[in-house]
Amino acid sequence: MTNLSVNLNKVALLRNARNFGIPSVIESASTCIRAGAHGITVHPRPDQRHIKPEDVYELAQMLTVEFNIEGNPSPQFLEIIREVKPTQCTLVPDAPDAFTSDHGWNLVTNGSWLRPIIRELKDLGVRVSLFMDPDLTQIEYAKEIGADRIELYTESYATAFRNSDHVESVFQEYKKAARKAQEIGLGVNAGHDLNLQNLEKFCSIPGILEVSIGHALIADALEMGLFTAVKEYLRVLSHE
Ligand code: PXP
Repeated sequence: MTNLSVNLNKVALLRNARNFGIPSVIESASTCIRAGAHGITVHPRPDQRHIKPEDVYELAQMLTVEFNIEGNPSPQFLEIIREVKPTQCTLVPDAPDAFTSDHGWNLVTNGSWLRPIIRELKDLGVRVSLFMDPDLTQIEYAKEIGADRIELYTESYATAFRNSDHVESVFQEYKKAARKAQEIGLGVNAGHDLNLQNLEKFCSIPGILEVSIGHALIADALEMGLFTAVKEYLRVLSHE
């Protein structure tokens, strides 16, 4: 079964709309863990619009499941990673003012500066994943520069699924990308815009190790409650 890592950015976004700490990122993490989530993901951005460095440090103290920290490896981001040494660090090429992560790495242009960063993180015992489009050549570079895993950026699959537009051909592209990664020894994660409707089909791709899901799961939690929403996503994942 594919592991579920719940992204708590949106809990922090809501919390930041007032100054007295509700909803609590820590309590939400506890609820996700009680419901059976395999991991917690956060994406501390430079503008701190949702997750703040303090959230990352507090989560690191209490988590009993895998901790995945995503972000562009700026000096400030790397300081947090060195201190926290999470289970996994997912490196993402998002601009400081990006609305949300919107593309995978171009490793032809970024591979040489990422290589020593990947080496350092792995030496710290942190598993390194790279956020990637389903592009076979780029995936080969990910292996070459030392990544352990890739996280497939699933926005175009989710859009095709939503619009019933070429979903089969887009899905096949992701399937090929995942197979390529696995053949060359990379683990495969996935994330972005996955939801209760499109998740089961995506995870019929063999060997997807982890999905990280935030926006849709937190939106579902407004209707169902967070505990039940996590259970629902786990139920879908158990159908694979
Ligand atoms: N993976 C990465 C790298 C992301 O930046 C995000 C959004 O923070 C996600 C996965 C989760 O996407 P969503 O919030 O659409 O589930």
